[in-house]
Amino acid sequence: MGAGRRGVDMGPSALRLADLFTKLAELKDVSSVTDTGNIHVPTREEMADAGELDDKVVNARNHRPIGAAVASLTEVVEDIVTRGSVPLVLGGDHSLAAGSMSGTQRARVAAGQAKAGLLWIDAHMDMNTPETSPSGNLHGMPLAALLGLEVPGLSAAVGGPDGMFDPSRVACVGIRDVDPAERDNMAKLGLIEDHNVFTMSSIDRHGMANVMERALNIIAPGVADSFAVSFDADSLDPSVAPGVGTPVPGGISFREGHLIMEMLARHGGMCGLDVVEVNPVLDTRNATAKVAVQMVLSAFGQTTL
Ligand code: ARG
Ligand code: MN
Ligand code: MN
Repeated sequence: MGAGRRGVDMGPSALRLADLFTKLAELKDVSSVTDTGNIHVPTREEMADAGELDDKVVNARNHRPIGAAVASLTEVVEDIVTRGSVPLVLGGDHSLAAGSMSGTQRARVAAGQAKAGLLWIDAHMDMNTPETSPSGNLHGMPLAALLGLEVPGLSAAVGGPDGMFDPSRVACVGIRDVDPAERDNMAKLGLIEDHNVFTMSSIDRHGMANVMERALNIIAPGVADSFAVSFDADSLDPSVAPGVGTPVPGGISFREGHLIMEMLARHGGMCGLDVVEVNPVLDTRNATAKVAVQMVLSAFGQTTL
């Protein structure tokens, strides 16, 4: 309900069909990997029948049902992190990151641990607010909510300072489509190109290895620091990941994607991972889910030898 095109609700099924869990269990050990199932989200049709989709007064489409679903995700993730596990959250559209990322952060704060940093891997910044969004789609707003800007539905799910991230511990990689007024929100929060925002142009100029070293220094400046990762499948080039609702040409290659994930795994500090925006309706023979599974396996330590 947070995206402009339908079908991402089937993303988790596509990732399961691409053997995500059996492959993860082979990589780790079987008993350490658990599929906890789906968060219940009513269908758009059920919502329409219940009269829940009528929030045209603010430029944040479906913010009430999305807010409810994302708030329940926050609680589930908080619980998983409190039990000492690493949550892998499958979307669904990117609005869910307001819940998954804040749930991880809230659990850390409650346990007296240092806050986590955040790596945002995306073609987009997702830094819109209703005032700046050209679409009104909530999947273009979760990072704004996580950094403390007011977004209907999502800010309530983030739930205040404990769920929020410090902008100085946030890095973005793969960026190539930012809306004009969205830039004002970025400037407000100190998100600056080539410092903590690594556009495709930054990657072209410096190379992915260099960019990722700098990104890791921002999200985890200390040796013992942890970071959460929100991976939007549209960060990848559409030739590699065609099954996304908002494809943008000129994206991250298959090898660059693996390099990102391998460097995260080698660091060892990853405390949460989202995989979002996989849309099987728009995909070609589940190619996007398959490549996303390979990215996840690399992030959890898979190497060639
Ligand atoms: N910036 C555009 C918007 O706000 C596109 C956002 C796409 N976001 C995503 N998670 N795919 O509508
Ligand atoms: Mn995106
Ligand atoms: Mn996104």
